Amino acid sequence: MKDEKELLVLGIETSCDETAAAVVRGGREILSSVIYSQIALHTLYGGVVPELASRKHIEKIDPVIREALAQAGTELADIDVIGVTMGPGLVGALLVGVAEAKAIAFAAEKPLVGVNHIEGHVCANFLQDPSLEPPFLCLIVSGGHTHLVRMTDYGKFEILGRARDDAAGEAFDKVARAIGLGYPGGPKIDAAAKSGNAHAYEFPRAHVDGSPYDFSFSGLKSAVLNDLNQARMQGREPVQADVAASFQRAVVDVLVEHTMRAAEDFVEEKIALAGGVASNSALRAAMQKACDASGRKLYVPAPVLCTDNAAMIACAAHYEYLQGRTSGWDLNAVPALKLGERAGGREDRDLKGAAEKANWVRRQ
Ligand code: KG4
Ligand code: ZN
Repeated sequence: MKDEKELLVLGIETSCDETAAAVVRGGREILSSVIYSQIALHTLYGGVVPELASRKHIEKIDPVIREALAQAGTELADIDVIGVTMGPGLVGALLVGVAEAKAIAFAAEKPLVGVNHIEGHVCANFLQDPSLEPPFLCLIVSGGHTHLVRMTDYGKFEILGRARDDAAGEAFDKVARAIGLGYPGGPKIDAAAKSGNAHAYEFPRAHVDGSPYDFSFSGLKSAVLNDLNQARMQGREPVQADVAASFQRAVVDVLVEHTMRAAEDFVEEKIALAGGVASNSALRAAMQKACDASGRKLYVPAPVLCTDNAAMIACAAHYEYLQGRTSGWDLNAVPALKLGERAGGREDRDLKGAAEKANWVRRQ
C-alpha cells in the first residue's frame, strides 16, 4: 500500500445546502476544497428547502468535483480513496453525493468510504492543526447537533452530553428568524451582536437535572420569543442587536461552562471545537479565554472548515480507510445516522441498526 502520508482522498459532501468536494493528502493537507453554497437559493424561502437542495446538488456535483480535482492538480486516476457523507442529513441531498461517489468509485475502481458527517466536523481540527492527535475533548455545535464528546481514538467517541431539544445552531436560526434577521441565522446574529448590548436582557441558562453535560436550548428560545411578544404588546420594538447579543451570550455561557466542567472532570488538557456554530466569534473568544485561564489548549478550525465542507469528509475517510473500513456498493444514505455509528467493523453497541442499513465491509 502507498505510504499513508501520500494517500490522496477525494471527499464529497452534500448533506444539506453545500455542494462540496475536496482533495486531501495524507489525511491532513488540503490540496483543494471547493464549496458551492446554495445560500442565495434558500434565502428566497427563509430556510433550506430539501427538494430544491437535492436538485441543486444534482446540477452542481459534477462541476464541483472536476474543479476540486483540477485545483489539486490531480486526475481521478491519481485518487486512492473516495469518501462521501452517508449521514446524518437530508435524505435526498445525501443520496446525490452517495450515488455520485458510488458511480465514480465503481467506474474508476477505487475504494469507497461512507463517512459520518458529525465525525467529519470533528476531523476539521486535524486539517487545521496537523499535530493534533486524539484523545481530546470536543464540543460539536452544528445546525442539527450539539454534542460534548471525548474523541478517544480515530473514529472512537465517548458521548458525554448532547442537546435534549434544539441544537445550538437551530436555536440561532430560530431566534434570527424571530427578530427579523432571516436565514442563515447564525452568522447574522453573530454580526448583529457586535453592535448590541449583551447585558440588555437576562435570558435563562438551562441545565438538565442530573446530566451536567447535556444542553437544552428550547427554553432560551421561548424566553426570547416571550420577551419579544411582550415588548411588542407594550408598543416597544426591541433593539435587534441587543436581543442578538444577549441571546448569543446566554448560548455561549452554557456551551463554555459545560465544556470546561467536562474538561475538569475528565482531566482533558486539549479542547477542540467543531461544527458551524464553532465559527461564532463570541464562542471562539469565550472558549479561548476559559482555556487560557485554566492552562488548556484550544483547537478551533478556521470558519470555512467549521461550516460544511468536503475536506473534513476526506480527512475522516482517510482514517476510516486506514482502519480497514470501506463501504460496499450497497452503501446508502442514513439520514438519522448517530455519532460513532457506522455499520460493521466496530464494537460499539449502537451499531446494530446501522449495520443493517449501510453494510460496511472490513477490508482483508
Ligand atoms: O455544521 P453546519 O455548517 O451544518 C450542519 O451540519 O448543520 O452548521 C450550520 C449551523 C447553522 O445553524 C448556522 O446558523 C450555524 O451553524 N452558524 C453559526 C455561525 N455560522 C454558522 N452560528 C453562530 N454563529 C456563526 N457565526
Ligand atoms: Zn455540518
